[in-house]
Amino acid sequence: MNKPIGIMDSGVGGLTVMREIIHALPAEEVYYFADSLNCPYGPKSQDEVKHYTKEAVQFLIDKGVKAVIIACNTATAAVMPELRDEIDIPVYGVINPGSLGALRKSDNNEILLLATEGTIKSGAYEAGILSFDKDVKIYNLACPEFVTLIESLDYENPSITKTAVAEKLAPYKDTKADTVILGCTHFPIIEKYIAEFFNGEKHIIDAGFETVTIALVQLHKKKLLTADNNTPHHRIFIHGENNTFEKVMNSWIPDIEYSIENILLQETY
Ligand code: DGL
Repeated sequence: MNKPIGIMDSGVGGLTVMREIIHALPAEEVYYFADSLNCPYGPKSQDEVKHYTKEAVQFLIDKGVKAVIIACNTATAAVMPELRDEIDIPVYGVINPGSLGALRKSDNNEILLLATEGTIKSGAYEAGILSFDKDVKIYNLACPEFVTLIESLDYENPSITKTAVAEKLAPYKDTKADTVILGCTHFPIIEKYIAEFFNGEKHIIDAGFETVTIALVQLHKKKLLTADNNTPHHRIFIHGENNTFEKVMNSWIPDIEYSIENILLQETY
């Protein structure tokens, strides 16, 4: 079905999910909603994030998407599984796929979760992981500094990023956890620094990547994938302003056809 897949995130982080879709299936078209006006979601209440997320999803549905991926972990924690009962197109969150990915990789059942404070407070990963396996130890670490680092483009300076990662993760340098979940869509952008900090000795799970794999298989089974001969023109909807979005987009997913539209939704929280 030649209709776009919708992705929503609070900012640039969901580009990590968009890139996985484009790499896996280049014919798929993506409509991307970046809620830059309300970014960051991490420190906001669950109710507020739920409100913003549902507004974003409705916007994408009105634009004609065939499915939505809630790329933002904080948003997933606030709206899933509730949202699934409220809309009649397929909707995918990132937390259960991320949890399953970590369980698949971990040999010792000890997992370090890096996420926003909102995701950690929600307990959604803990609930997800423990629902599959009760015998897992989870270490939670809120890393809102990484979101700021990435949204500000400071991450482009390797020495700033190395220092920020080392300072934040120092208490977990010798953690027994053999697997690290990147439980925020922004974090894969600095994945190599996180992997290096742990000397390449930990499994790194990108929740967005895990989600795309599951979502595309399910869309295939529902016969919703786009024909191979399609040449997509991706559309980016930026809610509010984001002067750095295009730069991250061009370096993260180069050589694609896209346009950016700035929008403002009517309702406020
Ligand atoms: N990208 C969001 C996530 O995956 C976090 C960024 C924010 O705080 O808005 O949780």
